[in-house]
Amino acid sequence: MKSLKILKSWKYKKLLRNSNYSFKRKYVLKHLPSSLISNAYKSISSWKNYKATPLLSLDKLKKNLKLNNIFYKDESKRFHLKSFKALGGAYAVERISRGRRNIIISSATAGNHGRSVAWGAKRLNLKCKIFVSQYVSQTRVHEIQKFGAEVIRVKGNYENSLQECKRLSKKNNWQIVQDVSTKNYRYIPQLTMAGYSIMIKEISKQTNHYITHIFIQAGVGGLAAGVVAGVAKYFKRIPKIIIVEPERADCVLQSVKANKLKKIRIKKESIMGGMSCNEMSLVPWQILKKTSDYCVSVADNNVAKTTAMLKDKKLSKASIIGGECATPGVIALIGLANNLKARKLLNLREDSNVLVIGCEGNADVKLYKQLLSKGRK
Ligand SMILES: Cc1ncc(COP(=O)(O)O)c(C=O)c1O
Repeated sequence: MKSLKILKSWKYKKLLRNSNYSFKRKYVLKHLPSSLISNAYKSISSWKNYKATPLLSLDKLKKNLKLNNIFYKDESKRFHLKSFKALGGAYAVERISRGRRNIIISSATAGNHGRSVAWGAKRLNLKCKIFVSQYVSQTRVHEIQKFGAEVIRVKGNYENSLQECKRLSKKNNWQIVQDVSTKNYRYIPQLTMAGYSIMIKEISKQTNHYITHIFIQAGVGGLAAGVVAGVAKYFKRIPKIIIVEPERADCVLQSVKANKLKKIRIKKESIMGGMSCNEMSLVPWQILKKTSDYCVSVADNNVAKTTAMLKDKKLSKASIIGGECATPGVIALIGLANNLKARKLLNLREDSNVLVIGCEGNADVKLYKQLLSKGRK
């Protein structure tokens, strides 16, 4: 416990209460229909090697923060893809291909989504083209190529890779599987979110405790919206929903604050690469603008330390492999629970059962090793 003393100094960056909060199950399930959620669970749970990912306990941290439970959903064990994203893109590929063998799948990605799409295409023996920007690491490119996809590098950022993907897909009649929704592109992203929602179905069977708080990280908001839709469908009681973002990419916080979709400028990319997004996806916005209780942002400086503490059993009896994007929920929880005012505001108490989503393992092996060694210093 001594080694956890350092946590007292951990801080969150910004905290915002959503003044438009109004959680209505019906509203959520209008934007992500209940039938899509049930179908996703039916399909994915029948895939070869499907197993619910572990719901672990951060038992050492819960004592330190004086909370009843801190559950950690360990997505490092999701199939062999090491991230919750395995549930989304691959499932969307299955649904939209509908047994056809002659279609070619395409997608633009920052890493994990494209990996899931490539895996989904391989499962069904479909050809696949994945577009990545110049910033996507070679390690992540190799991971995608492992599933037989052709990876096309595009100069510029994610936006440029998406434009090129759209251009070539239109020209060649490839079927695009994107996880970001816009006004005229909803169904496929909804399928990916429905895939993510099965984490909540699993949790509803893994514990009898009523979860009181969920800390969910957000990039464009797909993960968070999928989790919220799962809550609306499967949980008896609605927990407080706390959205966590990198301080340099807080597009959900800024949108909730303005009560309209806000595009932000990212001055420097966060180490939490999968969450370094400048604008929300549309369907997640519609869901999260009403269902997030609080938005919180965190700095990058404790990411490496958290990665090392998870691995070295400082927070739990079990050793946990949590990559960079798996850390912000834990970091935000520590910062908030140690701040008396915030603790009271969020009603974090000795009988609280908190859930954090450990959304990825060492999906980028090289970066993970670097984080571990930095975090152990
Ligand atoms: C590991 C990881 N965590 C979190 C996120 C954020 O998910 P979303 O963009 O759906 O909000 C991503 C997105 O790529 C990711 O790869």
